[in-house]
Amino acid sequence: MPTTRATTQDRSAVRSLLRLWPYVRPVRARLLTAALVAIVASCTGLVIPLVLKWLVDGPVADRDPAGVWLGALYLLLLGIAEAVLFGIRRWLVARPLSRVEAGMRADLYRHLQRLPVAFHDRWASGQLLSRGTTDLMLLRMFLAFPLTFLLVNGVTILVGVAIMLAQDWLLGLVVLVPAVPVLWTCVVFEGRYARVARRAQDQVGDLTTLVEESVLGIRVVKGFGRHRSQARAFDALCADLRGTELHKARLLATIWGVIVTLPELAIGAALVLGVIQVADGDLSAGTLVAFLSTALALRWPVESIGFLLAMSQEAATATERYFEAMDEAPEGGPAGEPAVGPREPAPEPAVLQDAGLRFENVRFRYPDAAPDSPPLLQHIDLHIRPGESMALVGATGSGKTTLTALVPRLHEVTSGRITLNGVDITAMPREELREKVAVAFEEPTLFSTTVGENVLMGAPDGTGADDLDRALAIARAEFAHALPEGTATRVGEQGLSLSGGQRQRLALARAVVGRPEFLVLDDPLSALDVHTEAAVEAALRRVLADTTALIVAHRPSTVLLADRVALLSGGRIAAVGTHQELLRGNAEYAHLMSGEEDPR
Ligand SMILES: Nc1ncnc2c1ncn2[C@@H]1O[C@H](COP(=O)(O)OP(=O)(O)O)[C@@H](O)[C@H]1O
Ligand SMILES: [Mg+2]
Repeated sequence: MPTTRATTQDRSAVRSLLRLWPYVRPVRARLLTAALVAIVASCTGLVIPLVLKWLVDGPVADRDPAGVWLGALYLLLLGIAEAVLFGIRRWLVARPLSRVEAGMRADLYRHLQRLPVAFHDRWASGQLLSRGTTDLMLLRMFLAFPLTFLLVNGVTILVGVAIMLAQDWLLGLVVLVPAVPVLWTCVVFEGRYARVARRAQDQVGDLTTLVEESVLGIRVVKGFGRHRSQARAFDALCADLRGTELHKARLLATIWGVIVTLPELAIGAALVLGVIQVADGDLSAGTLVAFLSTALALRWPVESIGFLLAMSQEAATATERYFEAMDEAPEGGPAGEPAVGPREPAPEPAVLQDAGLRFENVRFRYPDAAPDSPPLLQHIDLHIRPGESMALVGATGSGKTTLTALVPRLHEVTSGRITLNGVDITAMPREELREKVAVAFEEPTLFSTTVGENVLMGAPDGTGADDLDRALAIARAEFAHALPEGTATRVGEQGLSLSGGQRQRLALARAVVGRPEFLVLDDPLSALDVHTEAAVEAALRRVLADTTALIVAHRPSTVLLADRVALLSGGRIAAVGTHQELLRGNAEYAHLMSGEEDPR
């Protein structure tokens, strides 16, 4: 599991939630208006007991039916006003807050697209998914509800207490006694709930990851009869999550119990005391009615504090989780710069010997590799001349895929530099770099859209059907025209409705459709049969005539496509030459090419 978990203990919920301000700022006026409306609505409710008092001490005591009806009318109007005001509040916040949520989600998505591959290597996709969905929903709910109501209820409680004290200060003090233990409970609850809420949200992320993997890997799961063990793993994660949720429920039950019971006891005591006072003639019946109905009207604001705090805590956790992803530096940021190595101040004009693709003393180690391990690529010096195609050969795990990923800057070199026509790739904008360099990977990734759109992804916008057909022809992917709807046929999720070789050929077509200056192919023909491979090679040879290409290869037939071959071994380019030269002069190469064992 990636190191995405933070310790929440020392972090204050308020500080986390303050980070939401930039998103909330645009809607602050609305939120504030809504809060004021809610405060007015809530205090309207508190006027009702005062009308009751007037009713009991006035018309009821005087046996005046017309006065009673009038009082009832007042009560009805107050009730309607309260309801309408709360309705207005809801109307005020609903739309702006869904915009806040949508904006944050869009930002997260945009950020995830810009984060380097190294980040995605580290983070489980389910963790990202749950941050973009559940966590943001929690945030919207927090802004809509607890944020306003902690304020509204706080004000209501203060106003209510003031009214009660004004009615009868002794009864008022009796009702206030539980405030101290209730506050203490809230503080303790906050700390405990924060930890459990974080655990629950992380576990949702783990669960999402497992579901996603087993859906994407359904062929392996079925093929190896692993559905039982997958189900067991799922059950275990569910049981963990259930345990955490029950823990949350227990904490809520405790605070709820305290928050409900203590005030009820106090109200009961006040009732007894008040009745005695009324019997002694020290207090009017109307005042007691007003006092008690105020106390009862405050029950909801007080009781709701428990779950409002719980929701706020969850929202604070969600904010932390959201910003953990957002705080990661995107490509091109400080983390995108090479760690060591001299930087040329300005790109020099291309001199002939600099033209082409050049690796200069390139070292690379994965950021998450063991600290004492040697770099995977120790000293790569390689020059691929313009228009030349270079095959890259090496044992499995020697770092061929890694080396190819350095060219489009999917990973950053640890030191040394890579130049295209003499220009350091770190000195050119990424868009320009990725326009110049086209890539195809051994594992071809297709998106759930049409075949044509998948291929045209590799070309500038507006590339026409001619180029599409040409690219499909080069990659020997004419099968696309025979699909039910031709190139407009939609491929299933990840293109799994196609064969591995078909997917590879579409990925290859995508690499060549934009007529790139530089082509980097990581074993793009591995899933093709020998005849198709030969046909693709013949077509590729024509393309490669004016393209500078680096091609990872395994079979002699693919190697023969290239002008020269480089052997990657022990983190270095151990030898460069033609296939025949290396075959004669390099034992390791001869062994790799001998076919005695599958080098992959
Ligand atoms: N994202 C990664 N993080 C850490 N190590 C990696 C990562 N990807 C590959 N490696 C390691 O780098 C080594 C070389 O991998 P790779 O470049 O894929 O080799 P090849 O393509 O030559 O078979 C392997 O030992 C692999 O474990
Ligand atoms: Mg590889």
